[in-house]
Amino acid sequence: MTATLEHVQSGTAVSLSGVSKVFGRGPQAVVALDGVDLKVAPGEFVCLLGASGCGKSTLLNLVAGLDAPTGGSIELNTSRPAVMFQEAALMPWLTAARNIDLPLRLAGFGKADRKAKVAELLELVRLGGAGHKRPHELSGGMRQRVALARSLAATQRVQGTDEPALLLMDEPFAALDAITRDVLQGELLRVYERTSTAVLFVTHDVREAVRLGQRVVLLSSRPGRVVQEWSTQDGAAEALTEEITARLREVISTHAKS
Ligand SMILES: Nc1ncnc2c1ncn2[C@@H]1O[C@H](COP(=O)(O)OP(=O)(O)OP(=O)(O)O)[C@@H](O)[C@H]1O
Ligand SMILES: [Mg+2]
Repeated sequence: MTATLEHVQSGTAVSLSGVSKVFGRGPQAVVALDGVDLKVAPGEFVCLLGASGCGKSTLLNLVAGLDAPTGGSIELNTSRPAVMFQEAALMPWLTAARNIDLPLRLAGFGKADRKAKVAELLELVRLGGAGHKRPHELSGGMRQRVALARSLAATQRVQGTDEPALLLMDEPFAALDAITRDVLQGELLRVYERTSTAVLFVTHDVREAVRLGQRVVLLSSRPGRVVQEWSTQDGAAEALTEEITARLREVISTHAKS
């Protein structure tokens, strides 16, 4: 079920070189990231794994441009990235359809175009009949589907540019029950296979990382840096999950002792 390499292109969508991030100053300073090197190819699905507090969200926020690195550089060869968080963060007063419509409106799409795209995106996340509902009328899983459709809408551009799209996802399914999570992982893969979007997906669930990513990148505990990475294309998922879990445990226990 792992995403295949079919639509990965050559070149780089995102490139981080020696990226560090320090919060605060002096003795209170927290070094969240230290010398992170990471590249994501256009159309590639990369999962970022690491212990709680190792700087995963910080890294995603830096790539999203929501915060600036203290050192190093981040190069984006994509349109402005779309972001999806753990909480759906939908506008409560807008229907599902209007929530998805919002980024299209901001991007300057015309009315007819928007209507067609919203319908298409609702279908894509299997919410064809629920466009008129407001977030409070939807289940948590349905809200995350709307959020997924909205972030896909945010990757759309009026003028067809050569720039690849980029989707940044910060534990988008962590708050869901196991079955809903399983279904939404499947949906995400299905949607991903139909687009040429590169995805940088943060999780601390090894199984999820192995299922979704073509590449799994492990960050060390704070300060985060890349300690190891695996391709999910070769080898059995079960064995790989075990191997990565063992390595993650090691990383966490090393940190706990220091
Ligand atoms: N705005 C901020 N100001 C000060 N410290 C911060 C800020 N944001 C994050 N940190 C610190 O940076 C470190 C990394 O935080 P981050 O949220 O990136 O971790 P994470 O890997 O996403 O953790 P989790 O898996 O729990 O979501 C933590 O020690 C955190 O306290
Ligand atoms: Mg986080």
